[in-house]
Amino acid sequence: MCGIVGCLGEDNIASILIDGLERLEYRGYDSSGIALVNKNKIELLKRKGKVAELSKAIAKNKPTGSVGIGHTRWATHGEPSDANAHPHLSPSGRFAIVHNGIIENYLSIKQKLINQGVKFKSETDTEVLVCLIESVAKTQKKSGVEAVRLALKQVVGAYAIAVIDNQAPDQLIVARKSSPLVVGINKKSFYVASDVTPIAQYTQEVIYLNDNDLAILETGKKPKIIKINDASTQKSEVEHIEFDVQKVGKDGFDHFMKKEIFEQPQTIIDSLRGRILPKEGIVKFGGIEEYEEHIAGANRIIIIACGTSWHAGLVAEYAFEKFAEIPVEVEYASEFRYRDPIIKSGEVVIAISQSGETADTLAALELAKNKGALILGICNVVGSSIARFTDGGIYTHAGPEISVASTKAFTAQVSVLLAMAIRVGQLKRSIGPSQVRELITELSVISSKVEQILKQDSVIKRIALDLANSSTILFLGRGLSFPVALEGALKLKEISDIHAEGYPAGEMKHGPIALVDEKTPVVVVAPKDSHFEKSMSNLQEIKARGGRVLLVTSQTTDKALTSQAEWCIEVPHTNELLTPLLTNIPLQLLSYHTAVAKGCEVDKPRNLAKSVTVE
Ligand code: M6R
Repeated sequence: MCGIVGCLGEDNIASILIDGLERLEYRGYDSSGIALVNKNKIELLKRKGKVAELSKAIAKNKPTGSVGIGHTRWATHGEPSDANAHPHLSPSGRFAIVHNGIIENYLSIKQKLINQGVKFKSETDTEVLVCLIESVAKTQKKSGVEAVRLALKQVVGAYAIAVIDNQAPDQLIVARKSSPLVVGINKKSFYVASDVTPIAQYTQEVIYLNDNDLAILETGKKPKIIKINDASTQKSEVEHIEFDVQKVGKDGFDHFMKKEIFEQPQTIIDSLRGRILPKEGIVKFGGIEEYEEHIAGANRIIIIACGTSWHAGLVAEYAFEKFAEIPVEVEYASEFRYRDPIIKSGEVVIAISQSGETADTLAALELAKNKGALILGICNVVGSSIARFTDGGIYTHAGPEISVASTKAFTAQVSVLLAMAIRVGQLKRSIGPSQVRELITELSVISSKVEQILKQDSVIKRIALDLANSSTILFLGRGLSFPVALEGALKLKEISDIHAEGYPAGEMKHGPIALVDEKTPVVVVAPKDSHFEKSMSNLQEIKARGGRVLLVTSQTTDKALTSQAEWCIEVPHTNELLTPLLTNIPLQLLSYHTAVAKGCEVDKPRNLAKSVTVE
């Protein structure tokens, strides 16, 4: 949610900022802006709409300066508008700020400032913070850095901020609490961003700020990091990142989503490389090795996640229960954190998150940690908050996922979680060596089966054209196809503006069947598994009520079967527990082509943002 950038020490700061905002636009895209200090004056440019609007304004106005900050917004407080766009200026124009997060007590602070005579230009919580900074600097006669620190001490909520001060044209002040912030450093310059994507082209040396850290970046000096509460100096740990900037282009695809869908055969290979050795019957994950016995001895596992990652958690539930015979509860992080969940010391809690920054998942983990649980993370973004907060974990190695709608991240999460469940089953001896070999051999070839499905792209596109005028589509599945149905429905509603519901096929007759008629297509996910016959009975029930069915099933020569449905997509056969890795792919393509047919913004769908760092 919201992306922030900053730069100090370069000549072409405005173009560095705009490039950074383009790379972070997946985090929010309702307005954007930049501010630069130019000869002790702050130059500000903000525009409602996509970063492209700001880009045009920059090309016209050509702002310059010695230090600058930028922001791309996902609105929380106040509608998308020029006025609510960041950066925000303090009343005298001395400070400018960009902010990702939410200042929860902004109303009470705002009232105090209004009583002091401050006039606000926007509805945002962020403007309140920059006005507070100036008020502290003035009334307490403090330096810019000290004013920022003391203002942050009064703030309740989450923030990653970057502040510039027209009295310090060679300085950039940044701070974070519960929202991500990375500082890139090279010999002469500093680069600041919400994640490494805008930084990696300039430097591979970065500092991941910790919660409650404030960093003072000054030209020609080493970064100075202090704690917000007591100004105590912190050691700055510079980390070397390996990040291939080339990987974040569209590679000839029209959209990132399509590129990411087509990357999935490689995603599976990358997520399992060195972790499964079929011939030797070995499954190993370095990041959890020291906790393996602990996990195998657990009475239950709690999985916490949101959205697509939660669906991957549901697949893991089946796998852990089947292979490792450990009961699993899969919880929405946003619900879990506000209950008083019963977690006993030593219990195992696994968080799944592509970004590793989802605020609800992070807060749920904090709760679990405070109750003494062993906390593990399955994350994609290396160095992310969740990855750093957990006791151990596994990176999914899916590479940067830019499209807001998650595709390859799900596939990588499921691949890793299946292999992890097999490993725990192996340790518990709940699955024997031959079954382990059989499963990991199948995992090692599943990427080629995904490739076969991707070859049906044009067939799926034709089906999407038939479905694009629907106002509601139902997705049904039993067993492991139930999370796939949920994920298929989520994808469609995220990007195509079509209402969709995922349901367990057996539940249909308890309510959703009332919606079925010739105008409501139903996608039945029914690979040839132990639930197949029952799912086909559900399909008949839909047909009997005039419903039009798209069947996703395993390859078959039985024309009598495929003719039961109006449309049919076949996927290769695999082990029942691995079917989500295949059946989910056509549903991703179906959503993609439906959204394209409707002229929707595929990569940046309405109202959404990639990384949800607010509650
Ligand atoms: O980064 P995370 O995996 O923690 O994100 C969780 C959800 O916000 C995310 O999966 C969301 O549902 C996606 N837009 C799904 O496509």
